Amino acid sequence: MTQPLESADNPLPLANWNGVIQPLAEVRVPALDRAFLFGDAVYEVLRIYRGLPFQKVAHLQRLQRNLDKLDISTDVQRITARMDETIRRSGVMSGIAYIQVTRGAASVRTHRFPDPAPVPNELIYIAEFTDPYRETRRTGVPVITHPDWRWKRCDIKSVNLLANCLAAQAAHEADCPEALLVDDQNRLIEGSRTSLFGVRAGTILTAPLGENILPGITRQLMMELADRCEIPVCEETLYLNRLHEVDELFLTGTTTEILPIRSVDEQAVGTGHAGPISQRLIDAYQEFVLQFAANAPENDLL
Ligand code: PDD
Repeated sequence: MTQPLESADNPLPLANWNGVIQPLAEVRVPALDRAFLFGDAVYEVLRIYRGLPFQKVAHLQRLQRNLDKLDISTDVQRITARMDETIRRSGVMSGIAYIQVTRGAASVRTHRFPDPAPVPNELIYIAEFTDPYRETRRTGVPVITHPDWRWKRCDIKSVNLLANCLAAQAAHEADCPEALLVDDQNRLIEGSRTSLFGVRAGTILTAPLGENILPGITRQLMMELADRCEIPVCEETLYLNRLHEVDELFLTGTTTEILPIRSVDEQAVGTGHAGPISQRLIDAYQEFVLQFAANAPENDLL
């Protein structure tokens, strides 16, 4: 059985660059790679619990859909096998797996796709991750709002994340972990790296999917958990100027899991505390992860 490559002498994260496993810090990306020049790449972030990638099929199906939308041709099954192998070699039990597929490097810089198509560059890395919201998950967090400056195809999980980074930085400067993106019609679309939900009179509300929003894997899981908990869910847009109508707000995401919001731009949401529906969903999510981890085949982790 392969021994973990990582140890105290061999620090994380561990990468897989086009099939070659090596420390992430040693990966060399060509300057003419189209992700570097144009942001011409898609990515996924998966959570690893007890050494296994969570919601793997859903993430890899979304990766395939995004590759298809950009007409980048590669073998997602091979990427999956590489990811599994790299997780095993890393020895990481609680972490994240990052996958990025670029259109590849061309011989010259041209905006149009190079012809013939270059070979895609595939980066996977595995890093340790511990829940940053262990303390605040039960109390809720403050967030700010920020204009949604992103492009018009936010359903594609591309690495063009400058508008997301600007919003996240504004949140950081306001001592908040997240910014809610508001479009020019005053609609709350999602967070800079999370999906957004509200609760009104016992019903969970979230913006319908479309080209302006990322179809979150945790969003989908949360809706299934709500169904199991017999909490109704309605795809209905949330408006900034109608936030006083909601009793609770919460975020979901691969690394964020489920995180209640207690204030928006310093205005309390509902009672100003994490609400009961958010709490039930956090419990349901944690139970779901425990069951997932309990089914992890022990011997495969070594
Ligand atoms: N962010 N919305 C946006 C804009 C996101 O970037 C993400 C994920 C989500 C939540 O999606 P999911 O439940 O599939 O993680 C929603 C990842 C984690 C990131 O960029 O790091």
